[in-house]
Amino acid sequence: MKAIAINGSPRIGGNDSIALDEVTKILVEKGVEVKTYQVGNLPITGCSACLYCKKNGRCVKDDTVNVVAADFKDAAGLIVSSPVYYASANGTLLSFLQRLFYSASFEKRMKVGASIAVARRAGTVSTFEEINRFFTICQMPIVSSTYWNDVFGLRPGEAKEDLEGLATMRNLARNMYFLMKAIEDEKEPLPNIERTSTNFIR
Ligand SMILES: Cc1cc2nc3c(=O)[nH]c(=O)nc-3n(C[C@H](O)[C@H](O)[C@H](O)COP(=O)(O)O)c2cc1C
Repeated sequence: MKAIAINGSPRIGGNDSIALDEVTKILVEKGVEVKTYQVGNLPITGCSACLYCKKNGRCVKDDTVNVVAADFKDAAGLIVSSPVYYASANGTLLSFLQRLFYSASFEKRMKVGASIAVARRAGTVSTFEEINRFFTICQMPIVSSTYWNDVFGLRPGEAKEDLEGLATMRNLARNMYFLMKAIEDEKEPLPNIERTSTNFIR
């Protein structure tokens, strides 16, 4: 089984890395192949609404978004971690996720999504919910843990002192593995889905 981990921080080896390492360590122990991408330090710009992807199945800006999309297609799960900036996810990460989810045309249904928010003090819950919205619009079950998926720390390395946060990450990994495995082993075919697109009013 494969999973993708996205680190939305621009800091190499910062607190998001500590949180993600705690999750991936357990997944790898259980035999999951985890590929990690750090995107917060890359020059990723936002969606230009050109709709190239609707015809071509990939983003016109041929960068890490398309590279991750190719891996995401075969993955059973996606973990996204962000530092909290002004009670929101990091801006580069949002550009990345908006382009990834909009341009990747393959079925994301029943791929498991896990979101993580890392902060000094506040804004973790809004960031957690913000990332979860990418999952819940495309029928991806979201993984929960023994607390909201938060880790606290300001300076790089401080997250190591958040013992409850790190335990939350380990429990998140255990629940994520359970869910991915249960879905992989499920014999019931996926339900037929109705699609009605009304642009809200007509
Ligand atoms: C531009 C900016 C905005 C931030 N806004 C918040 C915030 O709203 N709430 C908070 O608790 N921490 C805030 N922080 C602190 C970071 O979330 C915190 O340092 C976190 O550990 C960074 O994770 P990293 O080491 O993985 O980059 C902010 C940091 C920066 C650089």
